[in-house]
Amino acid sequence: MASTEAPPGAQHWVPANPSGIDELKSAAAGCQGCELHENATQTVFGRGAEHARIVFVGEQPGDVEDQRGLPFVGPAGRLLREAVDDAGIDPAQLYISNAVKHFRFELRGKRRIHQTPGPAHIAACRPWLVAEFSLLRPELVVLLGATAAKALLGPSFRVTRSRGQLLPWPASAQHPEDFPVAEIQALATIHPSAVLRADDRDAAYRGLVDDLKVAAQAVG
Ligand code: URA
Ligand code: SF4
Repeated sequence: MASTEAPPGAQHWVPANPSGIDELKSAAAGCQGCELHENATQTVFGRGAEHARIVFVGEQPGDVEDQRGLPFVGPAGRLLREAVDDAGIDPAQLYISNAVKHFRFELRGKRRIHQTPGPAHIAACRPWLVAEFSLLRPELVVLLGATAAKALLGPSFRVTRSRGQLLPWPASAQHPEDFPVAEIQALATIHPSAVLRADDRDAAYRGLVDDLKVAAQAVG
């Protein structure tokens, strides 16, 4: 597919009245809404409590997630679980997903190098996220990093400027009509992978935990 051509998007694969997350996940396994399914191992769908009050949204599965079929089970996931714990968030209240559900990478020799998903991939995959929100109806959505934040709050959103703040949503969302949830808030923070890459890892980690404490308080 030429890169200038918009992919068809996931909508065709999303069930109309899903009974639960499991049905969405099964349907997403066959998604061909954009070309990322061609080279990735499998769809990595969200997972967690069906009654979750907080939904975390990351960027896309990484190398480990692609192989295991589960989100945030690699190094970034380990750090995220630690930060969730340190912030005092009950992991039983969580559901964790990604803006894009297939791993985008570039092959260099035998190594698969992470590539940030493009706007067309994010747009193509959005129907899955919308379907997850529609079923889960969370109180708070935590956006991990710029890709998730921009995907939901628009391209001009800056995580560095607005992180750790409770934002009314969907009023501030890029496509508010996508989200049939009235009372919902968003909070953006840095991606756990950015903590792993930071020069001052301790400071970056403390920043992440401080932001997540705001999330913990918001759902009380
Ligand atoms: N990074 C993400 O954004 N999502 C994952 O699932 C793993 C790493
Ligand atoms: Fe479908 Fe999303 Fe995978 Fe593209 S990235 S094929 S839209 S599940």
